[in-house]
Amino acid sequence: MDLYAVVGNPIGHSKSPLIHSMFAEQTGETMVYEKIEAPLDEFNKTVTHFFAQDNGKGLNVTVPFKEQAWELCSSRTERAELAGAVNTLFLDERGQICGDNTDGVGLVADIKQQGIELKGKKILIVGAGGAVRGILQPILKEYPAELCICNRTVSKAEALAQMMTGLGDIAFGSFESFSEAFDIVINGTSASLNGELPPLQGTIITKNTVCYDMMYGAEETIFNQWAKSQGALKVIDGLGMLVGQAAEAFSIWRGVRPQTENVMTALRSM
Ligand code: ATR
Repeated sequence: MDLYAVVGNPIGHSKSPLIHSMFAEQTGETMVYEKIEAPLDEFNKTVTHFFAQDNGKGLNVTVPFKEQAWELCSSRTERAELAGAVNTLFLDERGQICGDNTDGVGLVADIKQQGIELKGKKILIVGAGGAVRGILQPILKEYPAELCICNRTVSKAEALAQMMTGLGDIAFGSFESFSEAFDIVINGTSASLNGELPPLQGTIITKNTVCYDMMYGAEETIFNQWAKSQGALKVIDGLGMLVGQAAEAFSIWRGVRPQTENVMTALRSM
């Protein structure tokens, strides 16, 4: 049976096997999806061994290996090239390992699924790390009216803006430098992992601002709690992005696009 897996370290709490088994059942695809904890110094060996198996068809890659996966693959899609990180591996027609990044399209698909268009919107992205780099091209492809990035280390926001020159204009600055209202604010920092909140100006949020935290958890994220306290009526967490990136990976591997709504409902009820 065709074999797929997610590779990370740690990997114990990954929801990917559950998500992909729901997709497989829904679409009638016959496949197995496992999780693999690669030793920190043996990512390449783990991947090579996986694809050496006759039935090893595809891998998802998660923390902390996405950049190593980018290095490892023989070829990459344009969006993976720009993201500097790879979360989906598959074999091309020559049997060589090809890398893609489905995180950004997963985010965009989730936002659209919620009935929100990015086209013509004024969007602020908070953070300038690896996770943010991966979403810039897919967001620019939606033609926002304005795209801004703010970060604790402003030079990193500047570097990302320069990297995307040619795809679209991105304004950058410190957290404090943006004070005007935005239509959409996306938190891509890892601050909430430490229970911290970037010191953003409250005036960027109005009741009509959609706030999206790329993180998720059983409790409302600290960023979304803050957004609500500033008056935002619509806040979204990153669970839909997780399901969206998985749906895109599934369709690359199997050529069938699964529905995500019922999978989201099932995950929320667990
Ligand atoms: P990831 O791959 O999750 O994006 P990363 O590349 O380490 O991880 O990036 C983490 C991001 O969260 C960065 O934008 C980081 O800001 P700096 O570039 O200034 O380091 C941001 N970040 C992490 N902790 C933060 C905190 N306590 N306050 C504000 N920003 C924080």
